[in-house]
Amino acid sequence: MSDTVFHLRRVETPAGPLALVTIDNGEDWTKPPSLGRSALESGQELIGELESGDWASAVFTGKPHWFCAGADINEFPNITPETAAEGSRAGHDLFLRIQALPFPTVAAINGACLGGGLELALHCSARTIANTVRHFGFPEVFLGLFPAWGGTQIAPRLIGPQGAVSLIVSNPLRQNRLLKARDAIELGLADRLFEPVELVDESIAFAVELTKAPIARAEADWSELETIMRRARSDADDAVHGTSPAPYRALDLIEGAATWTVEEGYRQEEVAIAELLPGNQAQAAIYAFDLVERRAKRRPELDADPRAVRKVGIVGAGLMASQLATLFLRRLEVPVVLRDLDQAIVDRALASIQTELNGAAARGRMTEDKARFLASIATGSTTYDGFADCDLVLEAVVEEMDVKQRVFSELRDIVGSDCVLATNTSSLSVTEMGADVGMHFFNPVALMPLVELIRTPQTDDAALATAYETARGLGKTSVLVEDAPAFVVNRLLTRMTGVVVDALEHGNSVEETDAGIMRLGLPMAPSVLLQMVGPRVANHVLGTLHAAYPDRFPLSATLANYADGRDEIVVAEHRPHSVEEVTEAALEALADECRHVLDEGVVASAADIDTCMVLGAGFPFFLGGITKHLDQTGVSERVVGRRLAELGAAAR
Ligand code: NAI
Repeated sequence: MSDTVFHLRRVETPAGPLALVTIDNGEDWTKPPSLGRSALESGQELIGELESGDWASAVFTGKPHWFCAGADINEFPNITPETAAEGSRAGHDLFLRIQALPFPTVAAINGACLGGGLELALHCSARTIANTVRHFGFPEVFLGLFPAWGGTQIAPRLIGPQGAVSLIVSNPLRQNRLLKARDAIELGLADRLFEPVELVDESIAFAVELTKAPIARAEADWSELETIMRRARSDADDAVHGTSPAPYRALDLIEGAATWTVEEGYRQEEVAIAELLPGNQAQAAIYAFDLVERRAKRRPELDADPRAVRKVGIVGAGLMASQLATLFLRRLEVPVVLRDLDQAIVDRALASIQTELNGAAARGRMTEDKARFLASIATGSTTYDGFADCDLVLEAVVEEMDVKQRVFSELRDIVGSDCVLATNTSSLSVTEMGADVGMHFFNPVALMPLVELIRTPQTDDAALATAYETARGLGKTSVLVEDAPAFVVNRLLTRMTGVVVDALEHGNSVEETDAGIMRLGLPMAPSVLLQMVGPRVANHVLGTLHAAYPDRFPLSATLANYADGRDEIVVAEHRPHSVEEVTEAALEALADECRHVLDEGVVASAADIDTCMVLGAGFPFFLGGITKHLDQTGVSERVVGRRLAELGAAAR
């Protein structure tokens, strides 16, 4: 990838020469311009020219779709504390010189403005923004870091501590929520909103205006600092349970901004980043980010092209089927036909699809006409009418082998030979049921980004390529998985649930077992997860895994009770574990199961397991999925005898 450079152009204005600075890496919009070492050097050169020229004002802007993406995270893996501190200081020095320029500077935010890009903009005298910008914010805390080029100091001074806490800590902890242009204006982070085509011209005019009358800004209101911080720390506890240091350090720094000078604050950022960036959580998060943003997006090499999917059949009209139908309609905009055993179930599914589409229209995600049209191409009945000309049929009926086998044998007689027959099974053998391929989506379908793409010995490349492209078209990330009981996510989650249930059956309380698992930093207590998956489904998956691996997956009388709707824990022996023991046992069970998954070749590498756990189970980035954490903390060495990263076909 080419390095980002600051290009300088001179524009004559009535107030005198204006420096128009463009941040660009010369690549197309898929390659974000980032501020690595060489970009900072280019920045130093630029600032020299700005300091020595006869400039009256300056406007900074970006290349199409991007203002600036911030620091170059390729420089972060295995970084030393010294280099981390130096990197922070280099950014501070550059941005302080921009801030100190003796003329007004305007950041004209034309596209995504993230992290260090936003810090650059905040060091300008003012900011304009195109009304199309949808990615604006500080994702650092999500990556186990914090904005260390002045963000924690300058943001609270500009918008007050509450705004800074939302921007720097709360939003990233909420699945890395980013702001849109209007939010940036409302929060006081940007001063003017413009149409994208007029942004640069208007920003130049704005900069000229500022040469005559600088913006008057009110002092930040620090009066509620204590309450804001108390609430923010407790929210951070709820989100990461003390496991990731980043949100806490960010809050300390924001709080410090109330009393420190800017220089003191910047030194504190340098000290904190030197600790955090080389630490386990940040390194794991950077690894996980690379997995899901880059590695998992690479297309598998297959010997066939995908076939076009112009019509989709879905067998079943239950919980998953109706969500899947909505997704296919919204994303692929092709006719979808459903089949269930009872017309009332089909009608309920069609009604829920319509409600979803109407909701999307109401939120401005599509026009009402589009919603009406998409609803009109969803049909269904208790027969296979309309399935004959489908290019892909996805089965989502009850999780029973004989029912699924019957469905696929019926389908084979109806569909054309090129039609891909896929199953959404969560645990059963794709081979045995007679499907071409597995496409395991996760609940809730609209939100969960993963599809476990399951290949059987019979799966041909054309079917696999078609399923892969379809999942991509649906906005999902596929991980290629071999046909093994419960695949990856459910297998690991079930093994972990085994530890929880074992503790309950030894007399631990639900609160204790929940606490033991939450201490890993997982987003959801196991008791809540169990309710979401449904105890019946969970017990069914356990049954499948028990049949394959009875020693590691013992059946549980408690889970069977839950599945039957009875809230009754069967205590086998009263010998409760400590919360620490529950945590430790869960980690060891996960390490052991990862080893088996890799030894069996279910996926090619530990990185695939991690991609699955991040995207399919919501495991946090700062655990690096799970294997990174197990390797970092020595659990893998202890349980498996080596690092999980060294196992699997891809490591050999
Ligand atoms: P569900 O019970 O909500 O829906 C299943 C539907 O299949 C029912 O409406 C039933 O009437 C229908 N059905 C039964 N036999 C049929 C047949 N021969 N032809 C047509 N329809 C038939 O179940 P859910 O939760 O939607 O699960 C469906 C599949 O998706 C299962 O294989 C499950 O393991 C899998 N899955 C479920 C997830 C979940 O969280 N619930 C997540 C991922 C996969």
